Amino acid sequence: MIKVNLEYASVDLAKEIKDGDIQKIDAMIRNKTGEGADFLGWLDWPKNYDTKEFNAMKKVAKQLRAKIDTLIVIGIGGSYLGTRAADEMLRGLNHTDKVEVIYAGHTMSSTYTDQLTKYLKNKKFGIVVVSKSGTTTEPGIAFRLLENQLIQQFGLEAAKELIVAVTDKAKGALKTLADQKGYQTFVIPDDIGGRFSVLTPVGIFPLMVAGVNTDKILDGAKKAMKKLAKQHDLSNSAYQYAAARYILNTKHGYKMEALVSYELQMQLLTEWWKQLFGESEGKNGKSLFPTSMIFSTDLHSLGQWVQEGTRKVMFETVIRVAKPLADVKVPKDKDNFDELNYLTTKTLHEINSIAIEGVLDAHVNVGKMPNIVLEFEKMNEEMFGYLVYWFELAVAMSAYLLEVNPFNQPGVEVYKKNMFKLLGKPE
Ligand code: PA5
Repeated sequence: MIKVNLEYASVDLAKEIKDGDIQKIDAMIRNKTGEGADFLGWLDWPKNYDTKEFNAMKKVAKQLRAKIDTLIVIGIGGSYLGTRAADEMLRGLNHTDKVEVIYAGHTMSSTYTDQLTKYLKNKKFGIVVVSKSGTTTEPGIAFRLLENQLIQQFGLEAAKELIVAVTDKAKGALKTLADQKGYQTFVIPDDIGGRFSVLTPVGIFPLMVAGVNTDKILDGAKKAMKKLAKQHDLSNSAYQYAAARYILNTKHGYKMEALVSYELQMQLLTEWWKQLFGESEGKNGKSLFPTSMIFSTDLHSLGQWVQEGTRKVMFETVIRVAKPLADVKVPKDKDNFDELNYLTTKTLHEINSIAIEGVLDAHVNVGKMPNIVLEFEKMNEEMFGYLVYWFELAVAMSAYLLEVNPFNQPGVEVYKKNMFKLLGKPE
């Protein structure tokens, strides 16, 4: 379902990396002997997840969905980005589903928060609050405010049916609070870190409430798991991608990778990818800075820099989707004042695909910017599950190639410590 095309990447895997090194790391991942191996729960998750809990989630999600028109998903980082990536990629940016999903807890902007609370005054809303640690400040504040508002609008008893917490099975302030107040909880497994958790209740429960077919997402992940588990060397496409970006970084000197999508509704997917790679690899003074662009819109802004700005700093990784969720025809116009009738023999997706060809030629051959192309077979629920698993395996390989632990994030704690000190947080 994903093919790695290195035709435009100026990388020769056979010459620039030893298959033996890939095989060693693959064994380290599979045998769970590398640094951070306690957090490899995602590796077998598509076949190991608790179907009983998933069935219970379906029931609660159905009941909640029936009661609301708006779902507030509260969370930050890995507790929110994957959900939003799936929601936007699959339901779209202007969907007509009965449940609107709004995100909170990923910002401390008072303006955003005030505007959201005003917007919710006439809404039938529910809350899914997600925090593995159960103690993260940003979602904590958002939950306190929105829980208060929900109770004021609908009452204490109703709140028990309108609020669901996804958190640790036993510890953390959120677990204590939810148990004390009688809110339903679902569990984030101990051995799956935040940015690897979208296929657990973290992403699956809110997506169920949003009406997304989560069974298909998990089918896609299972498909990826089965296929990639059999390929221990460079025949594995996730490892090809990991190896190509490692070579561009460490042997050709590139410092940044921009993930490019021509599908506007994949913007949040690129944000999820940024966290996955940035938080997994950005350690010990190493790794590529992951950034992203959405074309065509960024062709009319950053496109100038990509074409002619500083060279040898950034390369692009372009997602090319073969089959979109929907296609559109350009209509014929009898007057043709806009002179676009020459396009009426093609669909919009065909025009977008031809644009990709033109841009590849401009950026690679004229601009001398290497491009890795990721060929996505389609863009549906199954594909989402597949690509999540695929990128998770790719980042594990990629980080271990750099000799960093893919599964911790010690740097994230530094700002928190400073902030808590300044805020006077009690020990
Ligand atoms: O990847 C991670 O571990 C982080 O991005 C966390 O998901 C994020 O910090 C949120 O943490 P928590 O779920 O504990 O509130």
